[in-house]
Amino acid sequence: MNVRVFTSESEAAAACATLVSNAVREKPSLVLGLPTGRTPLNVYRELVALHQRGQLDFSRVTSFNLDEFLGLPPDDPGSFRAYMERHLFQHVNLSAERIHFLDGSAERAEQECARYDAQLAAAGGMDLLLLGIGPNGHVAFNEPDESLQALSHRARLSRETRQAVASFFGDDVSKVPLAALTLGMSALLQARRVILLAFGVGKAAAVTAMARGPITPRWPASFLQLHGNVEVWVDAEAGRGLDGSR
Ligand code: PGA
Repeated sequence: MNVRVFTSESEAAAACATLVSNAVREKPSLVLGLPTGRTPLNVYRELVALHQRGQLDFSRVTSFNLDEFLGLPPDDPGSFRAYMERHLFQHVNLSAERIHFLDGSAERAEQECARYDAQLAAAGGMDLLLLGIGPNGHVAFNEPDESLQALSHRARLSRETRQAVASFFGDDVSKVPLAALTLGMSALLQARRVILLAFGVGKAAAVTAMARGPITPRWPASFLQLHGNVEVWVDAEAGRGLDGSR
């Protein structure tokens, strides 16, 4: 795993936005995998700025978001879809029909997941996947467990994860849904290029386990060691368990 340590989160975010913009220039029909949460906020801000300066054209880009809370319709303010509208979609020229999302309010979760996997396969998989990591080592909502799932599925959210996202629900953990729909490990591992971002000391243990530990479903991100093209972009705090890049 190729680790890059940045002096600050904002430096990493700017570099990440530049990387996305170069990738779109190289392949205007890029298929992008997009995360939510606190980590990518600065990246989205930078992408919006690049677009507003006329330096980034999303008109032919396709996007797939990683996950969505179960039970929340797309227009619920707590949904990841609403988050993406607020922070990226309403500010750039991604075309509506090329934005893809799991529908957390779908009546039949299994069918919805199968639909999403089929859509991603039809698009040819992700060219570039931006990822965050949970303090417990989850990627998308593939939570630590005795086993992991390859395909999109309904995931029960751990207590730790629900606490970590409570800030999106007015700091009230009881309002955080108990489950989510998420892409499985297969889609993540088949992305042609992965940039995983992690900042702050709260991510240090997960980053160390991911990059240096054994491959185990107890740290789902550790499976990224099997991927040939993953870059881990951290600040010094998140990277403090790593002894240089390897
Ligand atoms: P965060 O979440 O960016 O809010 O820390 C990351 C994740 O859970 O993947």
